Amino acid sequence: MKKVDVILGLQWGDEGKGKVVDVLTPSYEVVARFQGGPNAGHTLEFEGKKYILRSIPSGIFQGGKTNIIGNGVVLDPVLFREEAETLAAAGYDLTQRLCISKKAHLILPTHRLLDAANEVAKGGAKIGTTGKGIGPTYTDKTSRNGLRVGDLLRPDFRERYAAAKSRHEAMLRGMGHSCDVGELEERWFEATEYLLRFRLIDSEYVINKALTEGRSVLAEGAQGTLLDVDFGSYPFVTSSNTVCAGVCTGLGVAPSRIGEVYGIFKAYCTRVGSGPFPTELFDETGARLRDLGHEYGAVTGRERRCGWLDLVALRYAVMINGVTQLIMMKSDVMNDFDTIRVATAYEVDGVRTDEFPYALDGEVKPLYEDFAGWKCDLRSVKRYEEFPAEFKRYVEFIERATGVPVRIVSVGPDRSETIVR
Ligand code: GDP
Ligand code: IMO
Ligand code: MG
Repeated sequence: MKKVDVILGLQWGDEGKGKVVDVLTPSYEVVARFQGGPNAGHTLEFEGKKYILRSIPSGIFQGGKTNIIGNGVVLDPVLFREEAETLAAAGYDLTQRLCISKKAHLILPTHRLLDAANEVAKGGAKIGTTGKGIGPTYTDKTSRNGLRVGDLLRPDFRERYAAAKSRHEAMLRGMGHSCDVGELEERWFEATEYLLRFRLIDSEYVINKALTEGRSVLAEGAQGTLLDVDFGSYPFVTSSNTVCAGVCTGLGVAPSRIGEVYGIFKAYCTRVGSGPFPTELFDETGARLRDLGHEYGAVTGRERRCGWLDLVALRYAVMINGVTQLIMMKSDVMNDFDTIRVATAYEVDGVRTDEFPYALDGEVKPLYEDFAGWKCDLRSVKRYEEFPAEFKRYVEFIERATGVPVRIVSVGPDRSETIVR
């Protein structure tokens, strides 16, 4: 019997999950997304082309694989259609390779309005969401008001939709907003028809059967551990469990069926949206990381905030997820840096701690250790042994600090720029 291997982000998202899932897909027969929705933007580059995926798993480009959108995902039919049609135009026939869980929840046009209204209501404390209706859709799920993909097959779907919409209208009115979804509603219904071209499945059965029959499954995370609704920098988080436990609820697999947990992190840190970020750099170095790393959101185009690697947060993420192998991304971005800093502990209200604190909104001072930069172009390296000593020192320091081996090092956005040890 096989187990589900997992790839998930250890920071605030955008670690490079899409790229690595694509690189690892040849070793798997099934690739499944287990949470999140079109708030995700997963970038893949190969053969001179670049693709950005939002809801569709990043295993979609490698032929002969089954890709599954799991029950833990929230799906916007309009954005899904756009994404699927872009891939179809590029020559990828998705109807043969993509299945969708009937239990995945639908993002309605009014969920987007509620997302925007909630942000306005928060004023200066807004989350800086992606505006895709993620929070309100998961809220409807847990308050037992959601509509699921499988409901599209019910004869009374339109009535169910109308009931949900009128509930949302009342909420919006109560918050002083109108409820004008305009032509989006018509496009939404057309897109639900499009969605029905795909195989709607009980993904928990499909995945468990695959494992029992000895077929390997890779679960692809979205967002990152520090955006997890329970363990992230609450309330500046997303609305799903991005951590490893989310694989169990988001795909219907038992904890004993989790295999390798690949934790991805950047050689530095980024965050998009509001919320605490202890190692954030507001100076020229932060701007340099942003420019060299092209740190602009794949979904919203927003500038990503940049800072040094944070080992307090990384150790916390390794612990919560039970990470068995680390994957370090974007090392090449710091090719020309003289000095590279890493936060190894915090001082919170004057007291040193190695733990990620409950409250990050007070005074949290990172305590840094400095490393000499490697000052060479890592993008030309093909084998781990070829890396300069300074770079290896950096990698091995992270391994000692986390107790987990760094198995893959990424030195560029392309599929080929990946070094497996
Ligand atoms: P994801 O959301 O975790 O899949 O990550 P994103 O796609 O949002 O952001 C990662 C960005 O970094 C994308 O633009 C990738 O093409 C790019 N990228 C991934 N790995 C590397 C790398 O090793 N070096 C560089 N320079 N860019 C990378
Ligand atoms: P991937 O999968 C980075 C952030 C938003 C905001 C917060 C809540 O590409 O790593 P939401 O729309 O989810 O309610 O927004 O979470 N956020 C992400 N940041 N990468 C992502 O996905 C993100 N998905 C959501 O910026 O701060
Ligand atoms: Mg992203």
